[in-house]
Amino acid sequence: MITLSEFVYAKQHQFAYATGELSALLSSIATAARFINREISKAGLSDILGFNESSNIQGEAQTKLDVLANERFKKALISRGEVAGIASEEDDDLVIFEGGRSQTSKYVVLIDPLDGSSNIDVNVPVGTIFSIYRRVTPIGQNIAIDDFLQPGNKQVAAGYVLYGSSTLLVYTTGQGVHGFTYEPSLGMFCLSNENMSFPEFGNTYSINEGNYLKFPDGVKKYMKYCQEIDKETHRPYNSRYIGSLVADFHRNILKGGIFMYPNTASYPDGKLRLLYECNPVAFIAEQAGAKATDGFQRILDIQPTSLHERSPFFVGTPSMVDQLMHFLTS
Ligand code: AHG
Ligand code: MN
Ligand code: MN
Ligand code: MN
Repeated sequence: MITLSEFVYAKQHQFAYATGELSALLSSIATAARFINREISKAGLSDILGFNESSNIQGEAQTKLDVLANERFKKALISRGEVAGIASEEDDDLVIFEGGRSQTSKYVVLIDPLDGSSNIDVNVPVGTIFSIYRRVTPIGQNIAIDDFLQPGNKQVAAGYVLYGSSTLLVYTTGQGVHGFTYEPSLGMFCLSNENMSFPEFGNTYSINEGNYLKFPDGVKKYMKYCQEIDKETHRPYNSRYIGSLVADFHRNILKGGIFMYPNTASYPDGKLRLLYECNPVAFIAEQAGAKATDGFQRILDIQPTSLHERSPFFVGTPSMVDQLMHFLTS
């Protein structure tokens, strides 16, 4: 049995930056994930289900667990010296760490502390998504917004935690994608999925079909294509939509498939957030042999302009994304 820290230690020579920094960063994220896992697993017994009577900058009602997970990840990341500041779905602005960290620490972290939080009250899998960059502001100066508004192709690491039938942590540093299952009796994440990659073919499409009438025509045509009968291409495909990006994506990485959250009449720029949802998932996807696009360009090449900006998001098995692109562009 290989633990997360043993694995990261053994592979740290592949990380382009200083030895030990990545393992410190990932271990702080794993520590927070263990805490969230514990809270989620007994959520029905403690008073942490339901809403918090607050909303975030995107106008979403925050659940108690959104707030708890956000606080927990901040605490974990502040407790190590590597991180100069964070940006979170649940915080309006950047959180710049004090005590000289803003001038000296080398990394910034962007985080969706609890993904799929509307599912929490009904015991459906939820997740955490994280994205890590090197600062661009020179050491000695305070970090600023530009450290966070880097295109996804500058990520040095990204990952997610899926709190599902088991709890998994999946990460990449640009050297493949590796998954670790939480062993509760040991309190450790142990290697379960080394070098994860999308199967060459997929037959699952994942989209909130209730919004069908609001979708762009190309997406509607692709959905019809998925539903047509054709033996050679194994259609009709299966439709699966959990409503937690992490859980829908994780199914697709294992089984093959495409996940789509297009722009709609209600969300003209798409719903998912570029910096802490699309970018980290796109980095993992590409490392696992998949494609990720906003329908026009590679997600990882988009130059962000604001912290909470949204993007249409299409990610999955390359042949499925190519087929979708055919309908979007014809
Ligand atoms: P979050 O809970 O972090 O705000 O993210 C919700 C996202 C994502 O997890 C999921 O794929 C999508 O919203 C579901 O949206 P719909 O309910 O509109 O389908
Ligand atoms: Mn939310
Ligand atoms: Mn989310
Ligand atoms: Mn969230």
